[in-house]
Amino acid sequence: MDNLEQIVTSALADFAACGDPPSLENAKAKYLGKSGALTDLLKGLGKLGAADRPAAGALINQAKERLEAALNARREQLAQARLDAQLAAEALDVTLPGRGRGLGGLHPVMRTWERVEQIFRSIGFEVADGPEIETDWYNFTALNNPENHPARSMQDTFYIDDRDAAGLPLLLRTHTSPMQVRYARMHQPPIKVIAPGRTYRVDSDATHSPMFHQVEGLWIAENISFADLKGVYADFLKKFFERDDIVVRFRPSFFPFTEPSAEIDMAFGDAGEKTTWLEISGSGQVHPTVIRNYGLDPERYIGFAFGSGLERLAMLRYGIDDLRLFFEGDLRFLKQFN
Ligand code: FA5
Ligand code: MG
Repeated sequence: MDNLEQIVTSALADFAACGDPPSLENAKAKYLGKSGALTDLLKGLGKLGAADRPAAGALINQAKERLEAALNARREQLAQARLDAQLAAEALDVTLPGRGRGLGGLHPVMRTWERVEQIFRSIGFEVADGPEIETDWYNFTALNNPENHPARSMQDTFYIDDRDAAGLPLLLRTHTSPMQVRYARMHQPPIKVIAPGRTYRVDSDATHSPMFHQVEGLWIAENISFADLKGVYADFLKKFFERDDIVVRFRPSFFPFTEPSAEIDMAFGDAGEKTTWLEISGSGQVHPTVIRNYGLDPERYIGFAFGSGLERLAMLRYGIDDLRLFFEGDLRFLKQFN
């Protein structure tokens, strides 16, 4: 039975060398399987004489038990090692520093929007909001725009394929002025309101973008004059730019919905250089036809309105000479405002 000791020694060494469950099961088959080395010995018992058989059988069975015990112990070791490896791989080190998500910030145009709202609120104006998809009537007709006005043309205006409930054309509003009509038809004078929001035109260069922001201002009362509008607007600009030496000019202009009309320009760039002007706003005394479209009597009420570009105000405040920077989403630019 020398052979038996050899088999046991070699099996124990094999089991110990197996690094994973499949190879351990293969090693088991080599010794304890149907044609394993130990199984062969058992089968060979028949060739022994009857007298030797019981002792030899007992020895083989002892060896078999030793191997099975060693096998089970190795199985448990391998399972434990596998669990340890998995735990190590999936471990969360809660002591590592966080990966850090940068805090977001407000876009400079949104900052301007909020600042404009806050200043006008502080001088007694309400803030109103209205649809960006507008009817042709509110955007043009109610504002006294003649049927053939160039602003209505396909080049300036983004028309929508759909029509409103009455079958009238819909468009992306080209200015915030339709809010004058929407608001005045729902409120009684005196009215002091601003309506900031997005506006759309087929425009694109350093001072024009296809989507931009305006803030409409409307003031309706019984006894006000252009001087009142100038006073309020100059007051706003001083607060907005936080300085008293703002240089503005009211340049005579034309809008179908105001008479008289003026563009408001502001000096741009450092003093000393040749003055460059940047137009920031249209303005004027509301045309009697439009007052009537508000549902009010033009003999009794006077209205003043303005429509200013928020990007233009932001450009002047931050000294930016190309408004396309606002829309490129370049973080190197945007981060400077936060
Ligand atoms: C108007 O839109 C008139 N509704 C303003 C108005 C309101 C006049 C009330 C009288 C009474 P205008 O087209 O000039 O006017 O635009 C007004 C301002 O919007 C401009 O001064 C400019 O600051 C800004 N603006 C116009 N087009 C663009 C554009 N494509 N990109 C950026 N800003 C623009
Ligand atoms: Mg203009």
